[in-house]
Amino acid sequence: MCGIIGYIGPRNTIKVLIEGLKRLEYRGYDSAGIAVMHKGEIKRVRVKGKICDLENLINEQLILGDYGIGHTRWATHGEPSENNAHPHIDCKGEIIVVHNGIIENYSFLKNTLIKDGHIFVSETDTEVIPHLIEHYYEGNLLDAVKKTVKLLKGDFTFIAISKNELDQFIGVKNGPPLILGINDKEKIISSDLAPILNFTKDVYHLENGEICYFSPDKIEFYDFEGNRIKKEKTVVNWSPHMIEKRGFKHFMLKEIFEQPHALRETIIGKTSLDEGKIDFDVEPSFFKNIENVHFIACGTSFHAGLVGKYFFEEICEVPSEVDYASEFRYRNFLVEKNSLFVFISQSGETADTLASLREVKRKGGRTLGIINVPESAIARESDATLYTQAGPEIGVASTKAFTTQLGILFLLALFLAKQRGRIKTSKLKKYISELHIIPHKMEKFLNKSKDIEELANRYYTYQNFLYLGRWVNYPISLEGALKLKEISYIHAEGYPAGEMKHGPIALIDEQTPTVAIAMRDRVYSKILNNISEVWTRGGKVIAVIDEDNNEIVKEVTNVIRIPKTEEILTPFLTTIPLQLFAYYIALRRGTDVDQPRNLAKSVTVE
Ligand code: F6R
Repeated sequence: MCGIIGYIGPRNTIKVLIEGLKRLEYRGYDSAGIAVMHKGEIKRVRVKGKICDLENLINEQLILGDYGIGHTRWATHGEPSENNAHPHIDCKGEIIVVHNGIIENYSFLKNTLIKDGHIFVSETDTEVIPHLIEHYYEGNLLDAVKKTVKLLKGDFTFIAISKNELDQFIGVKNGPPLILGINDKEKIISSDLAPILNFTKDVYHLENGEICYFSPDKIEFYDFEGNRIKKEKTVVNWSPHMIEKRGFKHFMLKEIFEQPHALRETIIGKTSLDEGKIDFDVEPSFFKNIENVHFIACGTSFHAGLVGKYFFEEICEVPSEVDYASEFRYRNFLVEKNSLFVFISQSGETADTLASLREVKRKGGRTLGIINVPESAIARESDATLYTQAGPEIGVASTKAFTTQLGILFLLALFLAKQRGRIKTSKLKKYISELHIIPHKMEKFLNKSKDIEELANRYYTYQNFLYLGRWVNYPISLEGALKLKEISYIHAEGYPAGEMKHGPIALIDEQTPTVAIAMRDRVYSKILNNISEVWTRGGKVIAVIDEDNNEIVKEVTNVIRIPKTEEILTPFLTTIPLQLFAYYIALRRGTDVDQPRNLAKSVTVE
């Protein structure tokens, strides 16, 4: 969702801000803007639309900047428009703010400020911030910000600058992330690592309730009580080339092809094949006496949780439940002593997942994060965290994060099985060894991606799809349908195939193709029946099958052949053709694959 950036240093400020905003684009936005200080004067440019429109306008107006701030806005309060785009300013045009989050009490604050004579010009909640700072300003921006944050309620992360105090920046975090990157000559502050990585790996992650105050030659940190605090710098282990497309047409395609590498990175260092051992960077005692597990997540990460449930039941025999975070957080759920609550999230910032985590912690539950973005809120607030090593995921549709989440979930199931004495070492070694070969099998399949492109070319005009799967591949049918709808805007439903007769079979006709996952597993004969039911009603069927399966071809329209593996591990492989199928259909339909309409990469508001 919204992205913020601020820069001071010797480089061309406009260029740095525009490049930075382009790197924030993937978060999702509908308008953008910058404000720069030049020779003591503020210049502000905002547009509804894309960063390239903003760039053109800035170039037309020949704007120069000594330092400045920028913003990508995903509208919450007030329609997407130039007037509602950030940065926002106070009445005198002296204080400028970019903000990420939602100020819950903005209406009350706005009315109070209006009575006090302030003039508001936008429909946003953000505008109360510069006016409140103005209200408190008595010659010291930092003091005014310290007073302002005490009145704000909700999520607010913002950067403020003022023409009265040149070269000074104030950053505030209370909700969405805020990271300050530094090197000898320059400072860059942003809601995301993506704009920072080209400058430095040395960063400060602000925590909720913290303020940072910096200029070219100083950095100070404060809490919301106004006390000076000490913070440690951390070194990021992501590199700038990880956020480049590197010859791929889209980030999504690059990330699909990165899956073998990402999965290897995630599992290799944590497993020892010789000893049949799994090592996490977490004290083994943390996992002692677990009697049930709750997976909590949203979207694709929720689907990973569903697969996790099958892994856990099969491998370590631990009862598990899976909940959408948006539902879970409002349930009157019970926290038992031997429960483990697992929060799965690529970004580590999803508002509902984070709120659920806080609720579980409030009730005294044991919490584990499975997270991709280092130092993100869920990673830091969970009692323990297992990191997926997918690297930055820029495409809005999650791909490599998903398969690496499966990797961690499978290892966790094996780890608990061993700890609970539920698995023989020979079996454990067999699973680890097969998991180690999965990346190679992914590569083998990806080498034939042209076949999926051809299939997509045949099907891209259809308006409705059904995705069917059973058992461990049922969640993959949900994930396949989600991928298709989010990037190609085609209506798609994922279903457990056995549910067809209870309603969805009425949808079958020749205009509604079915994608059926039919691996030779324990439910193979069942899904064959379901495929027959579709086929005999005139429905087209694309079947995802084992590479050596020749019997099914008579009752399906097309087949996608997958390298063979253990039945429980098939989701690692069956998911890839569905990602590619969605990608190539979207490509053919000409949609904005990496930034689909209405979507945001990190859903930091409820
Ligand atoms: C779908 C997708 C979303 C995310 C969901 C959760 O392709 O990317 O459904 O999976 O918004 O995001 P995280 O994993 O960051 O919590």
